[in-house]
Amino acid sequence: MKKIAVAIQKGGVGKTTMSLSLAAELALQGKKVLLIDADPQGNSTGTLLESFDHDLAEALYGDVTIDQVISATTVENLFVIPTNSIDRKGSRSLKTYRSSEAQKEPYIFVDLCDEVEKLGFEYCIFDTSPAFDAFEEDIMTASDEVVVVIKADAYSQDGLQIFKDNLDSYKKRRRVQNPKFETIVLNEINRSIKLTDIISEGLNAGDFNVVYVPVDQDFKYATIERQTIQQRGGKKETLDALKKLADLIK
Ligand SMILES: Nc1ncnc2c1ncn2[C@@H]1O[C@H](COP(=O)(O)OP(=O)(O)OP(=O)(O)O)[C@@H](O)[C@H]1O
Ligand SMILES: [Mg+2]
Repeated sequence: MKKIAVAIQKGGVGKTTMSLSLAAELALQGKKVLLIDADPQGNSTGTLLESFDHDLAEALYGDVTIDQVISATTVENLFVIPTNSIDRKGSRSLKTYRSSEAQKEPYIFVDLCDEVEKLGFEYCIFDTSPAFDAFEEDIMTASDEVVVVIKADAYSQDGLQIFKDNLDSYKKRRRVQNPKFETIVLNEINRSIKLTDIISEGLNAGDFNVVYVPVDQDFKYATIERQTIQQRGGKKETLDALKKLADLIK
């Protein structure tokens, strides 16, 4: 089973959008895919499910088994471990786990992924928080590869540099090689703005695979309608970019 974290410490750049879209693309291609909503905001859960019985935090605390926490979605082959966006007061929520327990259990997601693999999943995608703390490090520890999403704006280079520094420091400290970092999604590009070309030149010079995703309002409509972009339909350029992304991480 291949494990991919979609990450960057910057908020609102499209991590959830790309996690969902990548997971849905692989599922459409017949792969059995699990999306883990590892962000207390629970955004990918909100798009995929109207309701659910158990969530990721319960699995991490060991209150439920892995098969109890995996929910089917309206997309064939696509399953999700949901996260409750509303913090249940006094309960063992993901927010609580993230801040109080994550540091103590660096291999929690390695163990969880082992259980997931036994259920026949071929891909596991993590949608992560806009942060790089102990909890995100635990996700990195379980991941083969990280896909970074940046927006084509003036701050993207800084955000990318901070991420690289965080990842390097994590790898050095833990003396690990993984996750590999080869793929960047340059999101919300607008070819009529020269900045896009400048940013993309800079990225290519860094030897990354770059996937260009255009500004596409269909992403927003899809979210409102609780659909994936493939279910709703988007620009051809968008759908082609998602196919390319899936090919790169396969
Ligand atoms: N290519 C795109 N074109 C148009 N809108 C987009 C595109 N990508 C993402 N969006 C929109 O931008 C907003 C933020 O995206 P998203 O929630 O995926 O970001 P995020 O990085 O997961 O945020 P957070 O850091 O809070 O988790 C959403 O409303 C989403 O629909
Ligand atoms: Mg998100």
